[in-house]
Amino acid sequence: MKTLFEHRSIRRYTGEPVDDNILETIVAAAVRASTVGGMQLYSFVVTTDKDMLDKLSPLHFGQIASMGAPVAVTVCCDVHRFSRWCQASGATPSYHNMLWYVNGTIDAMLAAQNMILEAEHLGLGACILGTTLYNAEEICTLLSLPEGVIPVTSVVIGHPAENPPLVERLPIEAVVHRNVYHDYTDQQILDLWSEKESLDYVKQLVEQNNTRNLAEIFTTKRYPQKGNVTFTKKYMDTLRKQGFIKE
Ligand SMILES: Cc1cc2nc3c(=O)[nH]c(=O)nc-3n(C[C@H](O)[C@H](O)[C@H](O)COP(=O)(O)O)c2cc1C
Repeated sequence: MKTLFEHRSIRRYTGEPVDDNILETIVAAAVRASTVGGMQLYSFVVTTDKDMLDKLSPLHFGQIASMGAPVAVTVCCDVHRFSRWCQASGATPSYHNMLWYVNGTIDAMLAAQNMILEAEHLGLGACILGTTLYNAEEICTLLSLPEGVIPVTSVVIGHPAENPPLVERLPIEAVVHRNVYHDYTDQQILDLWSEKESLDYVKQLVEQNNTRNLAEIFTTKRYPQKGNVTFTKKYMDTLRKQGFIKE
């Protein structure tokens, strides 16, 4: 619980490699996560090879290299292995579809979270790379992912070279609804975000970015519509290519 409440993403690492035994422990913790039907619809591609890290990093817009991470784990939704097992057993699988893409993605993310917590428990740092979704097709090619396997996230792991403060969250009441969903008034939502918005570094960010408020940093700078549309289309194409959508 201490590890959980002290979680922070680490974005700067010492050059020190992570011991193979430690990586094994981290993966062992990952596979203890709940998994749909006990099917383990995920695979982890653990990259420690310098040459492969150098090839992977540009697909994450340089994040792996700039963080100096010695390990990048590409966490994949994988219905391939399970389907192959069914076929080899003379059973007929039907998991190459959206329902099982979502199930496999949930499985993969639960395992990824275990991985992060175990890494942190062992004194290492970790950070999720959402950029995995933006260049999923290129990652499939680089990592030789077969049909039925698609990357959903990546986790970099290493020895921390920074000790950042905890990142604030919305107040608990923002995310909890009792019995049924209680929709918000605009004012209630503004109030729920006001604490974050009043932090000094957020005020500075708003000023530096020439935006009117924090919401505009998200909509115009961090995750603007153009990128959202482009990358949605790209990921949908990869889902098709990897056999999860059939028309
Ligand atoms: C789906 C997802 C994608 C993320 N992508 C990135 C990323 O590409 N780069 C990065 O530095 N952090 C990334 N993060 C980390 C978040 O920025 C971070 O969790 C958030 O700011 C809260 O900070 P904390 O983890 O230190 O509490 C991602 C987190 C999630 C869950």
